[in-house]
Amino acid sequence: MIKTDLTGILDFVGQEELGIDKGRRLLRELAGGKTGLSGTGWLGFPAAASPSLTASVRSAADKIAAESAVLVVIGIGGSYLGARAALDFIRSPYYNQLNKKTPDIYFVGNNLSGEYLEQVISLIGNRDFSINYISKSGSTMEPSVAFRVFKSLLTAKYGDRGARDRIYVTTDPEKGKLRQLCSREGYASFEIPPDIGGRYSVLTAVGLLPAAVAGIDIDAMLAGARDMLGSGEEEALRYACARQALYKRGKKIEILAAFEPYFRSMGEWWKQLFGESEGKDGLGIFPAHTEFTTDLHSLGQYIQSGERTLFETFVSVETTRARLRIPRDDALDDGLERLGGKEVRIVNEAAKMATKKAHIDGGVPVLEIGVPSASAYDFGALVQFFEVSCAVSALISGVNPFDQPGVEAYKKNMYDILELSGKTGVT
Ligand code: PA5
Repeated sequence: MIKTDLTGILDFVGQEELGIDKGRRLLRELAGGKTGLSGTGWLGFPAAASPSLTASVRSAADKIAAESAVLVVIGIGGSYLGARAALDFIRSPYYNQLNKKTPDIYFVGNNLSGEYLEQVISLIGNRDFSINYISKSGSTMEPSVAFRVFKSLLTAKYGDRGARDRIYVTTDPEKGKLRQLCSREGYASFEIPPDIGGRYSVLTAVGLLPAAVAGIDIDAMLAGARDMLGSGEEEALRYACARQALYKRGKKIEILAAFEPYFRSMGEWWKQLFGESEGKDGLGIFPAHTEFTTDLHSLGQYIQSGERTLFETFVSVETTRARLRIPRDDALDDGLERLGGKEVRIVNEAAKMATKKAHIDGGVPVLEIGVPSASAYDFGALVQFFEVSCAVSALISGVNPFDQPGVEAYKKNMYDILELSGKTGVT
């Protein structure tokens, strides 16, 4: 089970400041549908997801794997980050290079760089490929541009009918131009439930289809999320309340830190979840993400003794898949002789303990979230853990966790500059 360890913040906030009772009340209201807010469908989705949904996702994934060496996943924000996080966390950030049995997966439509698109096209080369185009609104600029590019490549390679057969769309069941396009063209499609916003949608078909293509056990992902509600809720609540108590004490920046590179995309997903949910009405903890020990050699100095407005949240995955040992080589005479024959993870663990102590001593409160493993089950549990804590944390500070009006500003300007008449993608 996921655990929240508060011991590293108790020098900075008292137990009585945590406000757990208020958090509990807000969670009850959220779960009971009593907040009056729309966008809460993610909470019950893992429990309600029908076997027919996972079966149809798996059958689409099997078809993609049978026909294609590559899946191009087109999407941005909540229509991108969660799937990438699942792939990196459960499989590997080197999935494409290490994996030999399931299709390579490339993510596009998450920026507007022509150079990036050209490089992905070169990487695909003349291999067979399919597309999963994910957009709730169906009118977001970045994925729309990428879809045009890859649809035209598919059409050139397979003709209109062949291309149509390789396009899988994940979008709103009724609204938006993309749903209309699916109906016109007969694309295979999946639904993003209307009451689930982008950044809360990873456990719907948004994340499930790319994950299934990568050979990930999607039923285990959903089971982890389902089981988190109940026994794990209190831990999520403690995290939410601790963050807000620290914020009230002037700790306005949260650094999420993990000691494993496979957590990097999860950190990016977390940043979007908390940033878009909480940063509004002149409020909100600024979410940053670091990868340790790498960033101890870049941001370490600032964290240790820069402005004291930070707190950290360490995510510790308690089991490792690696068994690599440090070779014995006394001829090196580098002072590391004692480490010869020991697992690398022992040094990583020591680095974590040392960093936690140094940062607390330097005036940075450190929360710690313990995750049993990097399995599909624990990924699902961690997603649900963060979503619950994010929603409760935003509600404690009095903002709506489920809208993102600020994202529209740059889109409107971009449409004006490009003299486009279409509507920007409001999700
Ligand atoms: O959380 C959100 O709603 C956003 O980050 C969206 O996911 C993102 O803007 C992409 O929108 P869409 O899926 O409509 O293309």
